Amino acid sequence: MYFHGTTKINEKGHLEIGGIDTIDLAQQFGTPLYVYDVELIRKRARGFKKTFDKLNVPAQVAYASKAFSTVAMVQLAKEEGLSLDVVSGGELYTALCAEFPPEKIHFHGNNKSVEEINMALDANIGCFVVDNFYELDLLAELCAAKKVKANILIRVTPGIEAHTHDYILTGQEDSKFGFDLQNGQAETALKQGMKSEWLNVLGIHCHIGSQIFETTGFILAAQKIFEKLAQWRDEHQYNPQVLNLGGGFGIRYTNEDEPLEPHQYVEKIIAEVKTQADIFKMTMPEIWIEPGRSLVGDAGTTLYKIGSRKEVPNVRNYLAVDGGMSDNIRPSLYQAKYEAVLANRPLEQAEETVSIAGKCCESGDMLIWDLPLPKTTNQDLLAVFCTGAYGYSMANNYNRIPRPPVVFVENGEATLVVKRESYQDLVRLDLPLNSSVKI
Ligand code: LLP
Repeated sequence: MYFHGTTKINEKGHLEIGGIDTIDLAQQFGTPLYVYDVELIRKRARGFKKTFDKLNVPAQVAYASKAFSTVAMVQLAKEEGLSLDVVSGGELYTALCAEFPPEKIHFHGNNKSVEEINMALDANIGCFVVDNFYELDLLAELCAAKKVKANILIRVTPGIEAHTHDYILTGQEDSKFGFDLQNGQAETALKQGMKSEWLNVLGIHCHIGSQIFETTGFILAAQKIFEKLAQWRDEHQYNPQVLNLGGGFGIRYTNEDEPLEPHQYVEKIIAEVKTQADIFKMTMPEIWIEPGRSLVGDAGTTLYKIGSRKEVPNVRNYLAVDGGMSDNIRPSLYQAKYEAVLANRPLEQAEETVSIAGKCCESGDMLIWDLPLPKTTNQDLLAVFCTGAYGYSMANNYNRIPRPPVVFVENGEATLVVKRESYQDLVRLDLPLNSSVKI
């Protein structure tokens, strides 16, 4: 079993994270429970950031907050000197509540609304990553109305297919995101942006996919973009200040995954951008990246209580936990794989292979297939590793299951950063058919 960050087995033989026994965490905060190893998040953030600093390359490392957006997490990103990506009014609101420096907020999204754009303009955010012609027109119009100028990055699709799950590919030509680099749309967008007195085209953005284990895709993307940049410099006298190569750096969910370390991704990216700038005799742009999963993914562990068991003779044994696709939809949605142990006796020899089912009313609500475990009882706790990215952020209330709380652990201290949803919370927005019912 591979343990990430500060996760280890303590003298009681229990799983410990951030210096705290997970059994105590489950007792104090209940289950299911998302536990985040704060030291590991800091380590990952520094892995990206310090590499740029060490090599003296002007850069921004923007945390893609879609991976896990809460006020405390945004505060942590601020503490670590990161910038922040948001993709909606809700993520922006969370960032503003956390008093994140607005000039370091980048606003993404393929269909930003008038209200969202106005909210971002009023907050004076750092830049908009413009996704399509509709947004280009709308943003210029809203800037004109407010008499403010906005910084923009033009999001391009360089036509690279990252080797990853189909559902999370975004860099290929047939994508809902961005302006195509090859068919001329990106150039048209650039010209339009340059012409507008309300827009300042800071640079170019691309994101080629997610859970990527090598650097080839980033290198190819940089090459394709530089070919065009050289052309645009000659034809339109355009010199970008910023090249944003997006996120997508992979993490180790199971031993099938072999990601690079943050510094390895960054070193390769810097080297390629330098090479390309040299080849085309261009000024080196600032390099921006947008890690989401790789900052928070392996820092998150979910604790569940084990409940019912169903044995299908000669077929499979199902073990159900007190959560499921409502707190982690990734196995059902992407066939994502996870590793897990019993938190109260992680060292014990496995005696059988079980499949971990969620409690939602849906056959597809399975968290892990074929997990070797000791014989369990309902006194046991299951710890599922690497649930820190797109777990809480994609959690839902299917079957009106309240979303679990989130606790940050660091140096032997536990801090509750998101409360458990209550049944009252679930009906908070409901209105009765007639006023005889009091909610
Ligand atoms: N930048 C852009 C423009 C993105 O679209 C994304 C992710 C990121 C950065 C961060 O990517 P990361 O470093 O986290 O891979 N729900 C899916 C992942 C969707 C990713 C969407 N975009 C999952 O659970 O795997």
